[in-house]
Amino acid sequence: MKLCIDDANVEKIRRVYDLYPVDGVSTNPSILAKTGRKPYEVLKEIRTIIGEDGELFVQAVSPTAEGIVEEAHRIAAELGKTTLTKIPCVPQGFKAMKQLKAEGLRFIGTAIYTPMQGLLAAKCGAEYVAPYVNRIDNMGFDGVQVSRDIHDAIVRNGLDSGLLAASFKNSQQVLELVKYGVKAVTVAPDVIEGLVKNAAIDAAIGQFNRDFAGLVGPGRTMADC
Ligand code: G3P
Repeated sequence: MKLCIDDANVEKIRRVYDLYPVDGVSTNPSILAKTGRKPYEVLKEIRTIIGEDGELFVQAVSPTAEGIVEEAHRIAAELGKTTLTKIPCVPQGFKAMKQLKAEGLRFIGTAIYTPMQGLLAAKCGAEYVAPYVNRIDNMGFDGVQVSRDIHDAIVRNGLDSGLLAASFKNSQQVLELVKYGVKAVTVAPDVIEGLVKNAAIDAAIGQFNRDFAGLVGPGRTMADC
């Protein structure tokens, strides 16, 4: 399972990248708008943080296939080969995906609320497809189950794609899909930090530290006792 950060705040990305086993960063137009910065300026700064190997996801906004293809070329030229253009799974998006596949550019299908959107994007050659788990939950459907259905259909149809499941609001949603073996999840920094935030963990470590300090003296560690 790959873990990506779903944010464009460079301070948060630096912190999470430093601490956790992270594979990339995903953005969307709303996430970029929150920074208030020029898109390529902030995306290039993110690229320097995550290095050439980190996968960076940047969304196209054009309403036409031709426009999306042009955006994908610019995104790849500006941000490197490990940058994937996120393409909304709508008719013009599928048309753009087919052309980009033929040209060998990397892309993913996004804005997925239904299984067939995901399946069609995978069939167009999308490396990942991104169902919006919490947004689907908020519509009164089961975002985890929709994601599982897409995963299963990709596997059963032998398509060379996988999930980059997105829009998580809690650890349970993430856990359910990670247990299911999806290809990747992209998670906001506060939700990533929440994956291991637990009073029982803090209490256990606190007790270990007090016991050890009682044995060798306060502030000493296995490196200097
Ligand atoms: O990037 C798409 C997705 O992650 C959006 O998440 O939190 O706006 O529902 P959210």
